[in-house]
Amino acid sequence: MTLNISPNDLGHVIEADRANVWHHLSQHKVYETINPRIYIEGKGMKLWDALGNEYLDAVSGGVWTVNVGYGRESIANAVRDQLVKLNYFAGAAGTIPGALFAEKLISKMPGMTRVYYSNSGSEANEKVYKMVRQIAHRHHGGKKWKILFRERDYHGTTIATLATSGQPQRAAQYGPFPDGFIQVPHCLEYRKQWDVENYGERAANAIEDVILREGPDTVGCIVLEPVTAGGGVIVPPKGYWERVQQICEKYNVLLHIDEVVCGVGRTGKWFGYQQYGVKPDFVTMAKGVASGYAAISCTVTTERVFEMFKDDATDPMSYFRDISTFGGCTAGPVAALENMRIIEDENLLDNTVRMGAHCLKNLEALKEKHSVVGDVRGLGLFLGAELVADRKTKEPIEEKRVQAVVADCLKQGVIIGATNRSLDGLNNTLCLSPALIATANDIDRITDVIDRALTNVFG
Ligand SMILES: Cc1ncc(COP(=O)(O)O)c(C=O)c1O
Repeated sequence: MTLNISPNDLGHVIEADRANVWHHLSQHKVYETINPRIYIEGKGMKLWDALGNEYLDAVSGGVWTVNVGYGRESIANAVRDQLVKLNYFAGAAGTIPGALFAEKLISKMPGMTRVYYSNSGSEANEKVYKMVRQIAHRHHGGKKWKILFRERDYHGTTIATLATSGQPQRAAQYGPFPDGFIQVPHCLEYRKQWDVENYGERAANAIEDVILREGPDTVGCIVLEPVTAGGGVIVPPKGYWERVQQICEKYNVLLHIDEVVCGVGRTGKWFGYQQYGVKPDFVTMAKGVASGYAAISCTVTTERVFEMFKDDATDPMSYFRDISTFGGCTAGPVAALENMRIIEDENLLDNTVRMGAHCLKNLEALKEKHSVVGDVRGLGLFLGAELVADRKTKEPIEEKRVQAVVADCLKQGVIIGATNRSLDGLNNTLCLSPALIATANDIDRITDVIDRALTNVFG
């Protein structure tokens, strides 16, 4: 059955949605009086809703996902052909797309060798937490079981990944959480916690302080976003990553980089950590891996980590006793292969670097013009503008006024985002993550619309 809905049937679709769909991250009371928005078609960076309105999507499907843009027939065709040939077998066995995508992915990640498939960012991260715990049991006599995470970072929606949420509003009311997940301070210099010259190094040293406080023999791993996404688009200051790497090596703490947002091109390199020359032990990725054409996530490890799960073949408990049913779907890796081919053939990494710089320049100009813009930051096509009531005190703008800017942009036909349900009082950063195919015209349109929205809301 293909869903060819005539315009007359769209009213029914809206009613079915209103009656039966529980939307993500939504307070539903409002839908008793207004219709939920339903998107029906996308092409490139454009989207159309059920009422026929056209939008320019500056957030790649709302949550930095559709990196190669909408309507890619070559991905749809590759997925279709593969589904007809073999849609699924459990991941205890291999498949052609699973093997070929793993090989291709590893070719972009020097130092890494193994790909474990699952199907959401949360799941990919939780696999690492399980690996770290099993390594602690099997190789450290039960020690080194704690996992550090950073204030303002986010790693997923399950109870264990929420235990590593540096965003209190995401975790609130879902506790109690499992033990052994310990927070380290954030590294956003704009909201500095130390008055020092080398802020990056100082913020990283705060990790060492936590390791020493907890006891280095209890800490197994630290999970970090390369550039923090939903916590405010935080690009770590100079010197931060170098020091993090030294600290991890000094205390034998495994380094887990959560590339769920940055992975596969978003910052202008294949992976965000590659901007900093970091050598991780684990890398997780999801959203941009297949640009939302299929559900896929990957937990990628070094051979050193992998070896720790096959050192004793006589012990029936020695290997990674984990399965993700849908990690065996072939649609994910076949879509991911085609997604990567597109990024290569269309030089989208270069485009991301160029368009990211262009967008940052435009945002800088908005900062010059509107005093409400306190800080702009970003890397590649991953950008944010923090709104403040007062530039000197950096008092954040109220969330409802930030949302008014987002709503005004939508009214003008451009979909932008803003940090939400993240940190009390600090949901004040406008977020942009256009598809990697964005042109200079697209970027100019996005920032022109934000310019007008800031004037409309703040005068
Ligand atoms: C950095 C980061 N990690 C993990 C996740 C969780 O991914 P998923 O929603 O696919 O479980 C997200 C989702 O936004 C994220 O931004």
